Formats: sequence, structure tokens, C-alpha cells
Amino acid sequence: MHVNASSSYDDRTPLPITSCHPVAVVASARDNDCRRHDMCDDGVMLPKLRVESVLWNDADTHVQAGCVALWDTVWPTVTGVESLDQRTARYAQLAGHQIHVGLDSAEVISVARTFEHTVDLAGTPQRVIALASVCSHPDRRGEGWGNAVVEAALSSASPTVPALFQTGVRGFYERLGSAVIANPITTSVPDVDAFTDTWVMVHPGRADWDETLPIDLLSGGW
Ligand SMILES: CC(C)(COP(=O)(O)OP(=O)(O)OC[C@H]1O[C@@H](n2cnc3c(N)ncnc32)[C@H](O)[C@@H]1OP(=O)(O)O)[C@@H](O)C(=O)NCCC(=O)NCCS
Repeated sequence: MHVNASSSYDDRTPLPITSCHPVAVVASARDNDCRRHDMCDDGVMLPKLRVESVLWNDADTHVQAGCVALWDTVWPTVTGVESLDQRTARYAQLAGHQIHVGLDSAEVISVARTFEHTVDLAGTPQRVIALASVCSHPDRRGEGWGNAVVEAALSSASPTVPALFQTGVRGFYERLGSAVIANPITTSVPDVDAFTDTWVMVHPGRADWDETLPIDLLSGGW
């Protein structure tokens, strides 16, 4: 996998969500923060925080395994109640999804997942970028890893194709420009849950977003 470790966060090229090419984003909200950099021999500060965005199917096996291990660590109850078959089926559904992975050397420290989806907004199809599976390793929180993968994940969102997601940590996303919405959320798909988390949010937040319109996810929640 090619990694352009010299890319800077500010000049990164937003990755089309359908792209199968990995992109490396060296990210830090605080580029001068030494906690997030390694000093090389000639005194140049090299960014330490690296994000790759890649389709799940194209990700290296160790990256996939690292994501699964991280998700299992952060949400152990999910795996605890699943059979192996259910778990295998769940990960098989990630085909075509894009993962944005924060890597410290080869170790997966944080991840976010996105996929394109169409919801029904009061009778009108609305393309969205579904954002899901966002987490960082419990031992590495507060170092910018969560921020980095979410910024990569949200980089292709726009007012016309916003990211749509549920979360319990609204402040984490609000500081990135996302907004809580109050639209009634349902799904017309039988036997699946729509949303289960505290807040429903869009990115970017839009002043003209009509929060009265019901959203039919046309799928289970993510
Ligand atoms: C939420 C989570 C991804 C944040 O990851 P992280 O690596 O600690 O985040 P960062 O270090 O990049 O923090 C970025 C900023 O968000 C803030 N932040 C982190 N968690 C926050 C929270 N729960 N609420 C509000 N702000 C938060 C940080 O203080 C930091 O702000 P600063 O730069 O001004 O100091 C991580 O706590 C996590 O994995 N939580 C469990 C899973 C989860 O809730 N995922 C979200 C599902 S939608």
C-alpha cells in the first residue's frame, strides 16, 4: 500500500468516497504539538499521526484485523452476544465501505467508516454519507486520533451530500462543524432498528436544514 508520508494535513486531497485508492493524510489539529510528532535526526519534525482512507476490501489484512480488534475492544458487548456466523456476516457487509484508519506505524489506533447511502427525506431521495464505527483506542484518547479519522471521513461530505450519523458524543462532532438535527428518524425496513444513539447529526451543519421533515433511513441505523 502506498503511503505518502510527506503529505500535510492542509493540502490533502479529499478522497471520493467511491475511490479504491488509499490516501494518506497526516493529520493534527495542533501541528506544533510535540506529543503528536517524532523528531528526526536533522531536527525536522515529522508528523506521527497518519490516516489512510481505503475501501474495506482493498485494505491490508493487518489493517482489517486491527480495525476488528479495535471495534471489539471498544464495543465488546456487540461481539459478546454474537455468534461467529453473525460476526462474520456483519463484517462481510463492509464490502464497499470506506475505512479511515489512524495508524501509528502499523498499529491501528483509530478508525471511522463511511458508505454512500440514500435516505428518503419526506418523499424525496437524499444522498448521504453514512458515518459509523468511529472510535479510538482507549489507551490513546486525547491525542488527536479520533479527530484525524473523522476529519478524513467527513472530507467528502457537502451541503448537498451531507454526512448523517448518530452519536452519544455530540461535542466531539460539533467542534468539527457538525450539527444536531431533530428530524424524526424512522425506517420502513421491517425488523431493523433505525437509530439507537442519543443524537442524530449532519455534517456540515446547515442553517437551512429543515428539521421538521421525517427521514426514512430505508435501512437499519448505522
Ligand atoms: C469519541 C472518541 C472517538 C474521541 O477520540 P479521541 O481520539 O479521544 O479524540 P481526539 O483526541 O481527536 O479529540 C478531539 C477533540 O474532541 C474532544 N473530545 C473527545 N471526546 C469528546 C467527547 N466525548 N465529547 C466532547 N468532546 C470530545 C477532545 O477534547 C478534543 O478536543 P481538543 O482538541 O480541543 O482537546 C473516543 O473517545 C472514542 O472512541 N469513544 C468511544 C466510542 C465512541 O463514542 N465513538 C463515537 C461514536 S459516534
